[in-house]
Amino acid sequence: MRDYDYIKIRNEVRKKVEETCHSRNNKFKSSVWQYHIIPVVNHSLKLGKKFKADLEVLELAALLHDYAGLKNKNFYKNHHLHSVRLADKILTNFSFPKSKIAQVKQCINSHRGSVRIKPKTLEAKIIASADAMAHITNLADMFYLSFGVHQYETKKGAVWLKNKLQRSWSKIMPEGRKMIKEDYRIAMKILNKAEKACSSDVPQSESWSADSSFAGH
Ligand SMILES: [Fe+2]
Ligand SMILES: [Fe+2]
Repeated sequence: MRDYDYIKIRNEVRKKVEETCHSRNNKFKSSVWQYHIIPVVNHSLKLGKKFKADLEVLELAALLHDYAGLKNKNFYKNHHLHSVRLADKILTNFSFPKSKIAQVKQCINSHRGSVRIKPKTLEAKIIASADAMAHITNLADMFYLSFGVHQYETKKGAVWLKNKLQRSWSKIMPEGRKMIKEDYRIAMKILNKAEKACSSDVPQSESWSADSSFAGH
């Protein structure tokens, strides 16, 4: 019999993270909740059920993996480390078992492909995969990141995004790739087309003239 109320802890953590996503200090804007955090939770639970992993560890790690970066933009650069620190504080306050807190912290610590900390446990591998999967299954939000947050023009933004999604794909475990391969195919089709578009694609027909209906735009 468990001596802690998981659902209560999960709901409190969920509320905390959602409020942080919606706060004005969050430089990624509130859409990060719906288009990133929730998809990471869903992907990790789906993979976790397949591999019979610890779903409590996965759900809390998915909710908290980017927490510090959402709370304070100065934490973004090392948000994996700051999120580990904050997760420890939050989960200890909620009396979540110490051994499970250690597992959550391991997942958060190694979730980023860019910092070269290899995920070692099954749960840590799942969280790193789920984080990368969310980039690919939420393409509209990645467009916002490229063209809205970074303000790239069309081609530069498309190339940047293509490279980012390719890096994400390389981080995903085979089971995860199977789940989202159609999303990846569609994303690459759109981004390859944008990358290849060049001036020779402009129609050269005789009917083209300066006073065409398009000229005023
Ligand atoms: Fe992250
Ligand atoms: Fe993330």
